[in-house]
Amino acid sequence: MYRCIIRPLLFFLSPERVHHNVIFLLRVIFAFPGKKWFFERIFQVKDIRLQRKLFGLNFENPVGLAAGFDKNALAFHELAAFGFSFIEIGTVTPEPQAGNPKPRVFRLPKDKALVNRMGLNNDGTREVARRLSKKRAPNTIIGGNIGKNTLTPDEIAQSDYLRAFKELYPYVDYFTVNLSCPNVGSISCLQEKDFQVSLFTELKKLDAQLGGNKPIFVKIAPEYTNEKLDETIEIVRLTGITGIVATNTTKERKHLLTDPSLVNKIGPGGLSGLPLRDRSTEVIRYITQKTGGSIPVIGAGGIMNAEDAIEKLLAGACLVQLYTGFVYEGPFVIRRINKAILRLSE
Ligand code: FNR
Repeated sequence: MYRCIIRPLLFFLSPERVHHNVIFLLRVIFAFPGKKWFFERIFQVKDIRLQRKLFGLNFENPVGLAAGFDKNALAFHELAAFGFSFIEIGTVTPEPQAGNPKPRVFRLPKDKALVNRMGLNNDGTREVARRLSKKRAPNTIIGGNIGKNTLTPDEIAQSDYLRAFKELYPYVDYFTVNLSCPNVGSISCLQEKDFQVSLFTELKKLDAQLGGNKPIFVKIAPEYTNEKLDETIEIVRLTGITGIVATNTTKERKHLLTDPSLVNKIGPGGLSGLPLRDRSTEVIRYITQKTGGSIPVIGAGGIMNAEDAIEKLLAGACLVQLYTGFVYEGPFVIRRINKAILRLSE
């Protein structure tokens, strides 16, 4: 029904408009009584064999919503009802920012892909923290994906991450440090080893000062070479952060079915969805093999169905996240993935 009726209707509108409408509609639907029962029956799969206890957190199942969908923590409660055990909000920056001019999200239906150059538009940490403080779904893990403001000079980028970390700290269960957004000016400084070692060391110190032991992940780009992946592994070990989210969107445009002239017309941005799938799985497998699985990896990139999710879990991911698959395949994809994981454990 989603693919035959709902998706064609949704795809009539621009991707960003659909996104806003969906978030609005979800909030309206959730204002009605009885919806919890409805959503639980229709979408969720509850089974003890799906549960995961990882880095001190209890996940109801291994499937989460990737960063970018609920950037501003407007509907994490409602989205969790589709069966996601964790929702990564953000990327949130200390100050609100508008992002890039519209249009900035594009569909490539032939490739089951999206291209986005949102540019980290978001309402800022204070507003997002205020929303998170109002309602917390008891069984949903919330990840806080943090970034630096685009106008913050590279030399003081660290202070942005520290501020975002501090302001979101009481309201999220884990952090993801986004160093790999392809849609904001220069990120080359964020990729340097010295910068990352210093940043993660300071974040760990701040974490200790704030009294907790919140897991911290670094989100990496699919373009990382093996040398860069080795370096990231070394940095994770050196600084004692928890793990890696692999991967963000890609700047690559290889092997696309979409007409190249259309791809060129769309212009720059991060490509997500099916064309990203194999590279992100490769990155997950590389990290897992190199570390013997000692560094937790959250796998994201091109999960369009249950097989794709299982492939990432078998490659070594402890959890998976999706965004584009949710857009193309609809909300039942989460149920299908969880059912398939259950079958695997039988
Ligand atoms: C994203 N993604 C993303 N990632 C991030 O760390 N911060 C962000 O703000 C965003 N924003 C964003 C917007 C849009 C429109 C898309 C499609 C994606 C990347 C996302 O979290 C994920 O890593 C990639 O999209 C790969 O997964 P999928 O989409 O192939 O399942």
